[in-house]
Amino acid sequence: MKEKIEKIKKMADEELSKIKDSEKLQEMKIKYLGKKSELSELLKSLGSLSTEERPKVGALVNEVRKDIEEKISNMELVIKEKVLKEKLEREKIDITLPSKKIKRGSKHPLNRVIEEIEDIFVSMGYDVVEGPELETDEFCFERLNLPVGHPARDMQDSFYITDEYLLRTQTSSVQARTMVANEEKTPIRIITLGKTYRREDDATHSHQFNQIEGLVIDRKDTVNISLADLKGTLEIFMKKMLGEKTNLRFRPSYFPFTEPSYEVDVTCFKCGGKGCPLCKKTGWIELLGSGMVHPNVLRMNGYDPDVYSGFAFGTGIDRLAMFKYGITDMRYLYTNDIKFLTQFDRKDEE
Ligand code: DAH
Repeated sequence: MKEKIEKIKKMADEELSKIKDSEKLQEMKIKYLGKKSELSELLKSLGSLSTEERPKVGALVNEVRKDIEEKISNMELVIKEKVLKEKLEREKIDITLPSKKIKRGSKHPLNRVIEEIEDIFVSMGYDVVEGPELETDEFCFERLNLPVGHPARDMQDSFYITDEYLLRTQTSSVQARTMVANEEKTPIRIITLGKTYRREDDATHSHQFNQIEGLVIDRKDTVNISLADLKGTLEIFMKKMLGEKTNLRFRPSYFPFTEPSYEVDVTCFKCGGKGCPLCKKTGWIELLGSGMVHPNVLRMNGYDPDVYSGFAFGTGIDRLAMFKYGITDMRYLYTNDIKFLTQFDRKDEE
């Protein structure tokens, strides 16, 4: 019996020394330690031995079993390590290979300009407010001193949805909304930016475009907002947006909601004022509408023009983006052409 056990041990040792992979090792585990293994059979047959021999043989079987078990699990570790080592060697990374290019998203030029405008005005203490794109005739026109039949309504070809509702033609509508909402008549310093709609479609106009509108109102007896404030504000705005060398020119004009009204030209960004095809050799580019808030507008929206004064201005964000980045066709801003959009990728970091 003892010899038989020793023989099993010897065989197991021999087999183990030849094993190279874990599959064979598993087979061996079953063969020597499984329920049907010789050692298990031996344990089962202990009953047939004498009481004297039984514990001795039993102990020996267990000892051999333990020995084989240990050796197999040691071998398992050795094989595992070997497999891992081989795998690592096979998978060596060649760090000298060129990397795959990851396509980066980029901020849309309009969003760049919008964020820049917001930063400029927030740094001057303005609030950024929003208004609805689906607007009423009342807020888009009436409350801005443009009653029904007013000839200036023809200046803006509108998309009417019903007799009362239209897609706003100008962000000036938010002027009236801000004044009406401000029941306590606290000072107003706001800009609003957003989409506007008109029935036009050519290289410099799109049926949908973006405007920024600014409105400042305060008491006459304390702050007394004047034309000088408007000029100073727009000068800071334009110099920050288009460069410190930008000059401004105020030309008297007409807008129903401001009196006096001015159109503001800026030095041509392309020729620096010398004159070129873009500015039609004038050196100037027309960019903003502005003026002192019309007394009628103040009155209609709850402000006594004897007590309050203010200024307002508005401009197209698309035009600003075109000037800033030298874009020739406004429709590029809306066609989502990846080639066009990725050109602006690094502009801000330059
Ligand atoms: N809303 C005008 C437009 O769309 C622009 C404008 C002109 C806005 C004068 C103003 C302003 O606030 O005072 O053409």
